[in-house]
Amino acid sequence: MKRDVAITINGERHEATVDHRLLLVDFIRENAALTGTHQGCGYEGRCGMCTIIVDGVAVKSCLMLAVQADGCQVLTIEGLARGDTLHPLQHAFWEKHGLQCGFCTPGMLMTAYEYLKDPDPSEEAIREGLKGVLCRCTGYVGIVDAVKQAIATLEAMPAAERAKWFPL
Ligand code: FES
Ligand code: FES
Repeated sequence: MKRDVAITINGERHEATVDHRLLLVDFIRENAALTGTHQGCGYEGRCGMCTIIVDGVAVKSCLMLAVQADGCQVLTIEGLARGDTLHPLQHAFWEKHGLQCGFCTPGMLMTAYEYLKDPDPSEEAIREGLKGVLCRCTGYVGIVDAVKQAIATLEAMPAAERAKWFPL
């Protein structure tokens, strides 16, 4: 069975006729050709690498159908930077060496994006928030440090500037 969908990804509308079983992660990677969203566990919802933001909420895109996202606003890793300027979260991952192979990084960033809205999370809360994303390189110390730095950077900004880094 097929259905028409229109999904706005990083501000760009993508229309397609899709099989009703098509997963959102595959819509993003194949229909929208945005391959920064990774698939790392055979679509079983265990690795978190496919995490994206849908209408402001972090979701594992292998556990959502494309038809369920019809009419939604989606943010993927490609939508974080503003032109050549990295999102403070991306910059912090770079500065704090929050990645090794980088395969988990899009999922880490998009998961952390949701938690950055908390102005002062404890280290325990950051670790709890990220526990749904597996890093096979076990680079967690750098990842937690990067999230903490990103929170501090964003908190030091005027509210209007800070808000620009949260399009969804
Ligand atoms: S691909 Fe592993 S949780 Fe989605
Ligand atoms: S940096 Fe390699 S899987 Fe996380």
